[in-house]
Amino acid sequence: MRILVTGAAGFIGFHLARRLLERGDEVVGIDGFTPYYDPALKEARQKILARNSGYSAQRLLLEDFGALQRAYGNGFDVVYHFAAQAGVRYSLEAPRAYIDANLIGTYNLLELLRQNPPRHALIASTSSVYGANPRVPFFETDRADHPLSLYAATKKATEEMAHSYSHLFQIPVTMLRFFTVYGPWGRPDMALFKFVAALFADQPIDLYNYGNMRRDFTFVDDLIEAVLRLSSVVPPMPADQPRSLPDDSLSPQAAFRVVNIGAGKPTELEDFVAAIETAVGRKARRNFMPMQQGDVPVTFANTDLLFRLTGYRPATAVRDGVPAFVAWYREYFGL
Ligand SMILES: NC(=O)c1ccc[n+]([C@@H]2O[C@H](COP(=O)([O-])OP(=O)(O)OC[C@H]3O[C@@H](n4cnc5c(N)ncnc54)[C@H](O)[C@@H]3O)[C@@H](O)[C@H]2O)c1
Repeated sequence: MRILVTGAAGFIGFHLARRLLERGDEVVGIDGFTPYYDPALKEARQKILARNSGYSAQRLLLEDFGALQRAYGNGFDVVYHFAAQAGVRYSLEAPRAYIDANLIGTYNLLELLRQNPPRHALIASTSSVYGANPRVPFFETDRADHPLSLYAATKKATEEMAHSYSHLFQIPVTMLRFFTVYGPWGRPDMALFKFVAALFADQPIDLYNYGNMRRDFTFVDDLIEAVLRLSSVVPPMPADQPRSLPDDSLSPQAAFRVVNIGAGKPTELEDFVAAIETAVGRKARRNFMPMQQGDVPVTFANTDLLFRLTGYRPATAVRDGVPAFVAWYREYFGL
């Protein structure tokens, strides 16, 4: 199959592209190598992908419609749109980056999907769209219209723009709501990377909301397995949909569905830190800090829909996933 992955030099896009290449697909990877975090890490990921002759890289920003159009050509069998300006905290510092990448960039891609629709487009969203909903776990059918950060707002807008294009131009779309993804080649702005870096540098770690946080940590290999399985579950067009859809997020007006991908089991921050201490072999010094603006105290995915559609649920425990990250970190930094 001919596949497009946007954000292919990013953490999750890289893992996905690597798996697709391993199974013999032809992959075009688009990435703008934005400076949000050290682009050297993106270059290193890209170098691995480029070893496979089935890979071709397109270095461009999604906002550049002309360049994107040339890269998109006559289209693809499947499109994975994972490029985005991610991160809750940075959206307070650099809001425009979210408007440019997530709104303008997504709009440009949707225009190309409209001209040459793929069989299925799978687009990254986030658990952040649930905001601080008090009812956990989060179901795809819950209201998700009280975003607490501009990041969450642009991701919710991504979902809604994609829904309108799906409806108007018969493009099958699955929105993937990812829950705190971690693992080898992970993002330097996320807690696991920051904590491990601090431990190796003998620096204290910052625990927000005085450590009173729970996150549904999802191991990256599990997430990719779920994404690949969902790729062959194309949402049906309205005319082909069953009459009753209990607990399905399928839109009655479009071939469009939203699916949570999470572990379905939140971990206390303190237990996460303990797993890191064990894997690194050092004790952390803890800085207890107030809650950060835009952040939420808990994320918790209901994964029944994912399981019904794919027969699969992420299962890697933090005590197994964290050492895999630490082993990669040691190797990457030669520690
Ligand atoms: N990692 C997580 O825990 C998590 C959780 C929820 C949602 N997500 C979403 O999953 C997707 C992938 O996230 P990730 O963790 O791999 O992040 P990442 O930052 O590692 O990857 C995103 C990639 O997109 C590229 N990019 C950003 N803006 C671009 C633009 N305007 N044009 C072209 N390329 C651009 C970046 O250079 C980067 O390589 C994102 O859409 C993110 O919002 C991630």
